[in-house]
Amino acid sequence: MADIDTLLKEKRTFKPAPEFTKQANWNKRTTSEHRKLGEKNPTKFWAKMAKENVSWFTPWKKDLEWKPPFAKWFVGGKTNVSYNCLDRHLDPKTSPGGVSRKNKAAIIWEGEPGDTRVITYGQLHREVCQFANVLKEQGVKRGDRVCLYMPMIPELAVAMLACTRIGAAHSIVFGGFSADALRDRINDAEAKLVVTSDGGYRKGAPFALKATVDKAVAQTPCVEKVIVVERTKQPVEIVAGRDLWYHELMALASTKCAPAKLDAENPLFILYTSGTTGSPKGILHTTGGYLTHVTTTFKAIFDIKDDDVYWCTADIGWITGHSYVVYGPLANGATTVMYEGTPTHPGPDRWWDLIEKWGVTIFYTAPTAIRTFIRLGDEHPKAHDLSSLRLLGSVGEPINPEAWMWYHRVIGNKKCPIVDTWWQTETGGIMISSIPGAVDTKPGSATKPFPGVHADIFDEEGNSQKGEAGGFLVLKHPWPGMLRGIWGDPKRFKETYWGTYDETYFAGDGAHRDKSGYYWIMGRVDDVMNVSGHRIGTMEVESALVSSPDVAEAAVVGRPDDITGTAIVAFVSPIGGTDANDALVDRLKQHVSKEIGAIARPAEIRFTTALPKTRSGKIMRRLLRDIASGKEVAGDTSTLEDFSVLAKLRESDED
Ligand code: WT7
Repeated sequence: MADIDTLLKEKRTFKPAPEFTKQANWNKRTTSEHRKLGEKNPTKFWAKMAKENVSWFTPWKKDLEWKPPFAKWFVGGKTNVSYNCLDRHLDPKTSPGGVSRKNKAAIIWEGEPGDTRVITYGQLHREVCQFANVLKEQGVKRGDRVCLYMPMIPELAVAMLACTRIGAAHSIVFGGFSADALRDRINDAEAKLVVTSDGGYRKGAPFALKATVDKAVAQTPCVEKVIVVERTKQPVEIVAGRDLWYHELMALASTKCAPAKLDAENPLFILYTSGTTGSPKGILHTTGGYLTHVTTTFKAIFDIKDDDVYWCTADIGWITGHSYVVYGPLANGATTVMYEGTPTHPGPDRWWDLIEKWGVTIFYTAPTAIRTFIRLGDEHPKAHDLSSLRLLGSVGEPINPEAWMWYHRVIGNKKCPIVDTWWQTETGGIMISSIPGAVDTKPGSATKPFPGVHADIFDEEGNSQKGEAGGFLVLKHPWPGMLRGIWGDPKRFKETYWGTYDETYFAGDGAHRDKSGYYWIMGRVDDVMNVSGHRIGTMEVESALVSSPDVAEAAVVGRPDDITGTAIVAFVSPIGGTDANDALVDRLKQHVSKEIGAIARPAEIRFTTALPKTRSGKIMRRLLRDIASGKEVAGDTSTLEDFSVLAKLRESDED
């Protein structure tokens, strides 16, 4: 494993512009000071950040209690996440920066149909207090779990913050999950209350959520109450004694509710994520450490200032939305944009229209979206004034240099630094990323670990690799935002993350570290192939394919092969209308050979109109592997296949 071949030959380097560095929250000097302390004493570094960036009711007694693999941060400290996100900003005496943000926009929201709401910190505070009182009246107590199954509407943020205000843990289930998936998550967390809405808008039409909740809740004995937000006004069934309207409860609720003084290790939320087995894992995050991690990384990596308009396009149903749509931004007193709908509705320029309309300055999205927009054509972003942008971010998967360069050129107009941020549901916050005013970037690399993060590359036996190396990405020291466990399953927690190496967290990713200490994430290790004894990252082959002018998107999987062990199969979606044909197959194979080497030459190239993706935008690799190994459908190489139907059938399996 020590010799994972990283075959990317990227040489371009982009230095932070002096004007950016000059105004940066973290410049070269401060970043290097933080790095020094973080390397020497990560616990002390994070304790310093906890003091600087988080407000505490009671100071903690011990920075870290580490009984591997169980960590407690800021032991004995008391704080409250909603206090940090709301109350402290209302008064210059308590607010970071000493200014009142009472009438500053906390959330700029736009619905898919074009309706908008701008909610100030003062208003959000009142609404959160009201909903916290509603939850209490409905019997929710500290330590209880509340399931949130909602579209991207402000009430979702209100409900999250209300839970944190009273010390109940939320468990958000992405609105695209089915009734069965929702049921299983509700039962696993034993949620006693569900907050939902009649529905939301997507692709120009209302979709229903309440009906799905009704189906799920028929099989969840733990649920006592369902609170329904009115969004679309579509007809819903109201079960007497169980279902209540949000607006009716809110109309009667007091706008005063003191934030509970919660222990630093009080559960904050559970978020389900897929593992290598069929059943999802409930990742548990707690209060003080998580808040410290997301508040600090948000401030440093997104360089937030009071006049910024920040937009992260992630759905709050995923960890990115938790940490960098809601908690990180609000704890920093930022203005965070929330958009309800589909990126391409009513036209392929909706996102660019939003950036122009609201004057977005910091934009954070995923490579899969970037590649989609590349395919749709430059004319759409070019038709809009994107000059307000000053910083771009990427998350969720390795960004191939081609997409990075397009993002840099077409969206950033060559003047915006790009922060490629590596992290996971389990890590709570960003772990490896550029600091925009301090770190040179290289297209396709997440650059360096954040100060206080002890990342390394291990080989199979757990030997730390020195200098330039490929292998398994691990984290050797606990960090404040780290998961505290898998809900109800400490055994699985130990085995999954700590079972491979002693007292070391194994992230499940392969990575390469170059001579200058930059990390190049190669994707999940289960996506790394072994071809004729050589290990090749599927991402590398994809990156090569996508760098061809013929290719919009590509996914590469391995299939068993008698001769080489694994044969590479590439699923390719050709750029706008290019006809798939045998000549193109040859050209692409040739192209990959040229970019990486003959070893990476795909044995098979199959064309598809679109890659099958989960609703969260992840390519359904398992489905592709099955197709590639002939389990699902036999296909003709040179015709365009459509896997979207199969993908839909499979979606719940891939959860
Ligand atoms: C996996 C975690 C954390 C936000 C969303 C995904 C991959 C994430 C990057 C990046 C390369 C990345 C990893 C990781 N990943 N960010 N910047 N570069 N890969 O959260 O669903 O928990 O997935 O996403 O493979 O392990 P998640």
